[in-house]
Amino acid sequence: MQTAFDLSVSTTSPLTGDICLPGDKSLSHRAALFAALAEGTSTIDRFLVSGVTRAMLNVLTACGVEWHLEGARLTVCGKGLRGFTPPTEPLCCGNSATTIRMLAGALAASGTPCVLDGSTGLRKRPMNRITDPLREMGVPVTSPNGCAPLTLAARAADVPLRAMDYTLPVASAQVKSCLILAALAADGVTTLHEPGPSRDHTERMLSAMGADIRTNKPHAIRVAPLTRPLAPLNLELPGDISSAAFLLVAAALVPGSSVRIRDVGLNPTRTGILDVLGQMGADIRIENRHDILGEPVGDIRLTAAPLKAVSVSGDTVVRMIDEFPILAVAACFAYGVTDVRDAEELRYKETDRISVMCSELKKLGVRVEERRDGFSIHGGTLAGGACDAHGDHRLAMSLALAGLASPARVTVHHAEVLNESFPDFVPQLRTLGASVH
Ligand code: S3P
Repeated sequence: MQTAFDLSVSTTSPLTGDICLPGDKSLSHRAALFAALAEGTSTIDRFLVSGVTRAMLNVLTACGVEWHLEGARLTVCGKGLRGFTPPTEPLCCGNSATTIRMLAGALAASGTPCVLDGSTGLRKRPMNRITDPLREMGVPVTSPNGCAPLTLAARAADVPLRAMDYTLPVASAQVKSCLILAALAADGVTTLHEPGPSRDHTERMLSAMGADIRTNKPHAIRVAPLTRPLAPLNLELPGDISSAAFLLVAAALVPGSSVRIRDVGLNPTRTGILDVLGQMGADIRIENRHDILGEPVGDIRLTAAPLKAVSVSGDTVVRMIDEFPILAVAACFAYGVTDVRDAEELRYKETDRISVMCSELKKLGVRVEERRDGFSIHGGTLAGGACDAHGDHRLAMSLALAGLASPARVTVHHAEVLNESFPDFVPQLRTLGASVH
């Protein structure tokens, strides 16, 4: 249980500085899990140490995987695709949907009997999007009402899963990754079609480890069964663009600010927020572009400029799926009405992010209109006051940042949930000069 705290933020002088963030959350999850599935010892530097990645590491321990964490260096002794030990207790994935969904695929591939479970919040999130296709592949998985806990029965070592041609009902990297992992143990080539460009870190990382995964047509991923062990990893992860987004918007909200965030992952399936902030008028430049194991990386420099409203829909939604809480706060200080459409998937995140974000912003005086697939925000209407994080790390950080430019201070109750993904949030903001209590 974490110690509860509130965050209270008020206006500040310009934010300036040059900072480096902890490793990317999506890449940290994948690096830990894929290293466990490899044969040999992996070393992963700049691993994100946070609530959700701890959940992944704890589950790996329960499956017999040995790892060691020293600062932000994670060392993992790989067990191979079929090397997991059957856990004796249900596996607790905490609040982490990435952990439960990717592990379901990995444990299906390994044939390990287990029960995958998580927090009350995680138990509310839809799992039929993975259990339906896993069953089609022959995975003996059951779940009550399409939600966790998920029970996987044992599968004989000499029985492969069934390869399939499958169209994902939603553009989801978690679902895609789950099925890619299961497909590594199938009896032929599996092809996955996705309706939009969800993050492709799994494809890139597993390919770099020796798996035969190709994206021939846009959004059609062809996965061949594994014929030789995955090679161990040896890399330093890039910083998390989703965490960078909070600090970039913080700087964009305070006139006169200028910040540089070094070594951030710039995978094009994640950079929608940079495109949108640019359209809103923020001056964003990318410097020092380079590559880490097939992932584009660079420094992001942002100089504040007056923001104007924007419309976001279609594939851009998928390319910034985690950034809508912080976009909503940027919209509160932009000139005009910002519109978000085609984003119903936000209702299935840590909270129903459309409904909860709209109701919390209303508490701060903002004029918002909620729709099934998005919302509209009238810039210039935020007054300040108190609101609640509702157990959602991204809501906690986004709402707090509203205080940087609001007429009155903003206080966010139950803000400790930010430790799930960005424990350095407050120290990093202070480094840039923000006043946060
Ligand atoms: C993630 C994928 C996204 C994202 C989540 C992390 C991942 O979810 O919201 O924070 O690491 O694959 P969906 O793939 O379900 O959209």
